[in-house]
This record gives sequence, structure tokens and C-alpha cells, in this order.
Amino acid sequence: MKLWGGRFTKETNPLTDDFNSSIHFDNILYPYDIKGSIAHAKMLGKQKIISSEESVAIIEGLKEILKDIQCGKVEFDISAEDIHMNMEKLLIEKIGDTGKKLHTGRSRNDQVALDMRMYVKDQIESIDAMLHNLQQVLLDLAVEHKKTIMPGYTHLQKAQPVTLAHHLSAYFEMFKRDRARLADCYLRTDIMPLGSSALAGTTYDLDREMVADLLDFKAVTLNSMDGVSDRDYCIEFLSALSMIIMHLSRFSEEIILWCSDEFNFIKLDDAYSTGSSIMPQKKNPDIAELVRGKTGRVYGHLMGLLTTMKGIPLAYNKDMQEDKEAVFDGVKTISMCLPIFTDMVKTMNVNKKVMYEGAKKAFTNATDAADWLVKKDMPFREAHSIIGKLVLYCIEKGKNIEDLSLEEFKKISPVFDETIYDHITIEACVNNRKVIGGPSIESMEKVLFINRNYLLEN
Ligand code: ARG
Repeated sequence: MKLWGGRFTKETNPLTDDFNSSIHFDNILYPYDIKGSIAHAKMLGKQKIISSEESVAIIEGLKEILKDIQCGKVEFDISAEDIHMNMEKLLIEKIGDTGKKLHTGRSRNDQVALDMRMYVKDQIESIDAMLHNLQQVLLDLAVEHKKTIMPGYTHLQKAQPVTLAHHLSAYFEMFKRDRARLADCYLRTDIMPLGSSALAGTTYDLDREMVADLLDFKAVTLNSMDGVSDRDYCIEFLSALSMIIMHLSRFSEEIILWCSDEFNFIKLDDAYSTGSSIMPQKKNPDIAELVRGKTGRVYGHLMGLLTTMKGIPLAYNKDMQEDKEAVFDGVKTISMCLPIFTDMVKTMNVNKKVMYEGAKKAFTNATDAADWLVKKDMPFREAHSIIGKLVLYCIEKGKNIEDLSLEEFKKISPVFDETIYDHITIEACVNNRKVIGGPSIESMEKVLFINRNYLLEN
């Protein structure tokens, strides 16, 4: 007989049990469900809604069930639908009729809302720690590669020289914002919904603040209808995860390009590469490709849940059970991607010489040549045009700008003198960019100092 079977005259169809049940995925909520139930039972006891003996018996029973599950002794029952009713059933089996009192003043609707909020809070902390690790690796690499000059691109065309430290630190900033988004989502997740009951609160004199304190929530929800039907925090969380994997995916794309024969900027460690079943020479960046590929599924979960929620009238509706697989798989995906991605980046080999040579090609010092003219009091637009002509001349002659003789320079503009050469070396192009946020060693050192402190504090 179902826990809710009183008003029914027939058994449910097995297909209904199958279709309706969520135990095969929401079983991972068991630690939260037990913790939440223990807090609820403590509060019921303190408020004398149940006797203190009953409260203690329930709490002890729940603790034993926790141990049983951890030892693999429990097999969940599909006809008990979800983790919440499975737990209640197990409790009644373990301690008898007293177990039937646990659900006093509570509904599965506020129970599941509580469990999910506890779960999301924990996952935010765990994913944040993974992002911290990745940032630490990026910071260490940036310190090592302050002088590793490489081409910076726009439109995937060589644009101006930067350093590898500068390039990697761009991702450091993205992950800072990702962590801030998670922290912000945490604030709105950290609100305790138990006491909302089915939708309209309860007639029992519950101490909701006590439950919030016991479960480490900073506040309680202020509207019981919203308390049971809000899934904004799940959507926000998936949105934060989508942004994280979007950043990982851009980074993956660059890694895939960089280890191609055409770029040859890096070599991935063998431990983070794979081979081909037919082509013996192949070494493929599968990890980066998979991270890029998994982006689609995280976005999919975000769009899926947004769509699930869009037409649901207040308050709880079963549609909301669809939040779980979306959030759980989003968490699983990100939690798999982050550590392996971090190790892959940490162990990659940087081909400094190729990066340097690459930066010297394709006139990446053209802007600096124009800037030199501007410093000689020429309007920038005019300088731009002169250097454009100079580049055209270089393309015809197959030379770099810095390889031209002074006569060749002067033929294009009489303003040029020999001091131009010092300003257009690749090192000068990087290190004259002293603006904060720029790639020069000087400005990178300032930012690396800020980022080092950031990691100590965050
Ligand atoms: N398994 C359900 C879910 O995940 C729990 C809440 C069910 N409540 C109900 N009244 N059917 O949403």
C-alpha cells in the first residue's frame, strides 16, 4: 500500500509507478533528506508537537538508515516513488509507528525544496573549489611565462604581440567572474523553505528559524507558495554552470588550435591525449574536444529547465521533478570537466620559440610603428595610412617592418629616423604596453600580485 494510498481503491499501474518515480535519480539526495528530517524531528520535539521520546527515536532511526545506506544495505523501492517516501518507508520499517509521525507539519513539496537547496549549496562550494584550483594553475603558469611572447589575435588573425601570461590571465579573470556568479547564486539558494508545507503553510506551531539554524541557512522563505514552487536558484545555478563551461569551451578551442601542427604552440602531455585506432601517428586532444562538446548538454539543461518552468501555475506541480536530472547532470558534467581540464593545462608543454617566431610574423608591430609616428606629432589616422603603405611595401618585398633599411622607411615618410627600430622590436611592443591590464612585464606583475592575493582571500 502506498503512503498516500488511503483514498485509492486500486493499485497503480506498473507503468505509472515507473513513469512517476524519481528514485533512480533523486536517491543521491539521501544525505540531505536525512539531515533535513533530523532537523525537522528535533524541532517537532522541542515544540512539543511530538514527544521528546518520539523525536529521539526518529532521529536515531534516521541515523541508522544513513549508516545502512552508506554500507550498501538499502535497496530503494520504485513503488515508493522518490527519496522522500522511500526514507519514510524505511523509517517506519525500522522504528515502527513512531516513524509515521515524522511527516507532521511537512509536505514532500517543502521537503524536496529543502533537499535541493542543500544540495545546490554544497555543489556550489565544491565547484568553486575546483575553479580555485584551476585559477591557481593559471596563476602559476602566468608567473612562469611573463616573458613568453606570443601573437595575440583578433578575427583569428595575428594582431599584436602579447605574452602567454597575459593570455592565460584573461581566463583567470573569466573564472573570477564565474566564481562571483556562483557566490551570488548561493545567497539566493541559502533560504530555508521547510514550513511552507504543501503550499499554504501549516497550522502547527513550527519553529522555522530553529530548522534554518540547525541546517545552516541564513534565512527562511517568506511566502509558502513561493517556497515550494521556486526553482529560480536551480536555473541560476545552471546558468552559472553554462557560463563556466562556455569559458572552458573557448579555452578548449584554443588548446585544440594550439596543439595542431599549424600552430604548434603547445604539446599536450601524453597522459591527457589519445590516439587513433587506424592512424598510428595521431595524438589527439580529445579531452579539450570533449569539454567543448559537453558545453551543449549544460546549455541544454539550462534551456530545458527554463522551458519546464515557464508555464507552471502556482504552486507545486510534478513538472518540477524535472529539475533534478538537469541540475544533477549539470553538476556531474562540470565536476568531471574541471579537474581534468586543470591537469591538462598544468601539464602542457609550451613551445616558446614557435610562439615567439609567430609573434614576429604578420606585422604585429604595425600599430607600434604608427604610434611612433604619432609621438612625432602626426595625427593617428595619417600615421595609420603611412604604416599601411609600409606594410604593403613589406608584403611585396617579403620583409618584416623591422628589417627595412632607414632609406626604405624614409621613402615612405621623411619623418622616420633610426629611433624607430627600438620601438618596433617585439619585446618593446609588449613591454611598452604598461597600461594596467596590458601585457608588459611591469603591468603583469602588478596584476599577478592582485591575483595572488585574490586566491588567498577567495
Ligand atoms: N519527487 C518529487 C519532486 O522531485 C517530490 C515532490 C512530490 N510532491 C508531490 N506532491 N507529488 O518534485
